[in-house]
Amino acid sequence: MSANDETENADTTVVAEPSVTEQATPDEKASEAPIADDAIPAAPKGGRRPMIAGNWKLNAGGADGCDLALAVARYAADHEETEVVVAPPFTAIAAVSNELYNKKSDVGVAGQDVYWEDSGAFTGEVSASMLRMAGATWAIIGHSERRQHFGETDETVVKKVAAANAGGLKCIVCVGETLDQREAGQTLEVIGRQVSAVVGELAKSGGDGVIAYEPVWAIGTGKVASPEDAQEIHGAIRKLLAETDVELAEQTRILYGGSVKANNAEGLLAQPDIDGALVGGASLEADGFGKIIEIAAKLARQGKNG
Ligand code: 13P
Repeated sequence: MSANDETENADTTVVAEPSVTEQATPDEKASEAPIADDAIPAAPKGGRRPMIAGNWKLNAGGADGCDLALAVARYAADHEETEVVVAPPFTAIAAVSNELYNKKSDVGVAGQDVYWEDSGAFTGEVSASMLRMAGATWAIIGHSERRQHFGETDETVVKKVAAANAGGLKCIVCVGETLDQREAGQTLEVIGRQVSAVVGELAKSGGDGVIAYEPVWAIGTGKVASPEDAQEIHGAIRKLLAETDVELAEQTRILYGGSVKANNAEGLLAQPDIDGALVGGASLEADGFGKIIEIAAKLARQGKNG
């Protein structure tokens, strides 16, 4: 059973209360072509361009990833109001980037992690410059699965964000509380600590950085934060950013992640401080993911954040 099966089988009830109890072979083209920062349109005047990012996790790491990316690209092309990013496993980044480049697609490619050293004796690691050479322009950093299972800490997250900045990658920095922390009333404290750790580095990237609020209890469980609860945390994150830099707070997109699907995306994306979604399981199925892209574009056209 894949992670996606588990997600699809899960209950999709929106949790309303604040306290939740409940392949291609990489080829030479990859290093020369797909780095296309200029191809990404600037945020629309007076608002933040919504972003829908698909974190494929440990899935779609070969030719299946190319097929998925091309299907996503078709939805993205029809809904340019939405910035679309996909995060394949490292093995598929070059091939996916190539396919997207060949189709002249603006869909961005992200690494699911990045190491802070650029090169050397660090078996198994991948650096920012390597991701760039493979065609990625983004890196997801500090995902809760890396914090939980691979010893990621606020300290390593900051080092990675700094390395990404230095290496020309834009960051999607993940923050989020566990169920225990939420039930202990520590949500804002935990989020505050995680955001404060990276705000200095985010400020250096001039508003290009993205924060993803992903409550750990909502990831892969089918339990979704209610739009109001999510908005409360997103608003708090933006306030925290504003304490460092008001412009940074206005520019930084804050995505929600955790069991986002086509049937619950609209309420979340309509919130003023929810600028998009970081989607796991539902990003592995192009039509459902495409529907989320479409919803974000529709809301943007209606002037959300405008
Ligand atoms: P799910 O959408 O499968 O809950 O995963 C969310 C996530 O972890 C995205 O990074």
